[in-house]
Amino acid sequence: MSTNIKKLHVSDLRTGMYVCKLDRDWLDTPFIMQGFMIEEREDIDIVAEYCEFVYIDIDEARKYAANGPSSSVGTASQGRRGGPPDYQTDVSSEHRQMYKTFREARSVTRSMLENIRLGAAIDNNQAKDTVNECVQSVIRHPDALLWMSRIRQQQEYTAEHCLNVCILAIAFGRQLGFSEAELQNIGMCGLLHDVGKMRVPQEIINKPGALTTKEYRMMKAHTVHGRNLLMSTAGVYGGAIDAAYSHHERIDGEGYPRKLSGSNISYYSKIISIVDAYDAMTADRCYDSAKTSTQALKIIYAERGKQFDEELALKFIQTIGLYPAGSLVELYNGEVGIIIEANLRLRHLPRVILVLDENKNKLIKEKIVDLSLIENGDLPKRYLIKQVWKDGSFDVSIRDYQNKGLQLKH
Ligand SMILES: [Fe+2]
Repeated sequence: MSTNIKKLHVSDLRTGMYVCKLDRDWLDTPFIMQGFMIEEREDIDIVAEYCEFVYIDIDEARKYAANGPSSSVGTASQGRRGGPPDYQTDVSSEHRQMYKTFREARSVTRSMLENIRLGAAIDNNQAKDTVNECVQSVIRHPDALLWMSRIRQQQEYTAEHCLNVCILAIAFGRQLGFSEAELQNIGMCGLLHDVGKMRVPQEIINKPGALTTKEYRMMKAHTVHGRNLLMSTAGVYGGAIDAAYSHHERIDGEGYPRKLSGSNISYYSKIISIVDAYDAMTADRCYDSAKTSTQALKIIYAERGKQFDEELALKFIQTIGLYPAGSLVELYNGEVGIIIEANLRLRHLPRVILVLDENKNKLIKEKIVDLSLIENGDLPKRYLIKQVWKDGSFDVSIRDYQNKGLQLKH
């Protein structure tokens, strides 16, 4: 490390400076890299939110100015050069923009459900605002919110699930070519689909073992409770009432509560049914442990035409892809990372942030690698993805990286 290091008050930070140390643990801040350039005024604002003093490395800033970033395995900017043209922003900016909004959305969802449990009315305008934030973010770049939706806290299952289904349904709708107004509608369906669960006794919702016949009947009644709750709420989008009522119907007519089949189930309910199942399967629940995204998609594939609409199931599998943002992956070289951005053209070659070295030791400085560089030989093939692991494997928790939020660009 250079000896040309100076301690500065954040108010003295300027663009072009290289921050090499903070006045607190990096893990307590949103900065994904230990060491970064201050590239724009906004970067200073973010640093000022978390720190009073920082240490700048003058030699490193000079080197950066002369040569660009020193990482040997690719940078965020390299990733953007070959990235999909379809997005309105890059994923790092979107993480930065949604960092606080997502946490607020979770807290709004949590209080909305808690209020329903206590017998209060649903605040339709607040729900609409939350959905709108998600729609705007997914339109700009879906991978930031998709990453955030992977962060689970066991004790908050229903609230997390409702917001995740909202986000996933919007991302799916975007892939299906929905207009902004339609995305807002499908997002409302997702956010509100399980509100009826707040009228089912919590002992049943949280029961780890198998439900008795009576308990199962009470659980299934959440669809009817949901419909009734939403029908008594002024201004709620009609499709959301139907989705709350019908998201457990199956194409083969074996679902509940009405045993509807095929075309008798609304399009939006068919979408929510798939998204709901996917999110539930990929979470640890009181009666089942989480499956990987790939395992969940395999089940959706197997159930196409039976539980799920065939065409929509196939399109959903395409939407999520093999390596959705927020997936924990092991590379052939043994290194472990988290997907930060799917590659729409070369789906097996996403962008990854590496967090463990080949011996599974935590990297002191995480590296962003654009695996699409393998395509033209700029990155060795040992960087190919070998396997997807469940969150928590190798002691890597996506939540630990949540607060790092890809706030700075390299
Ligand atoms: Fe449900």
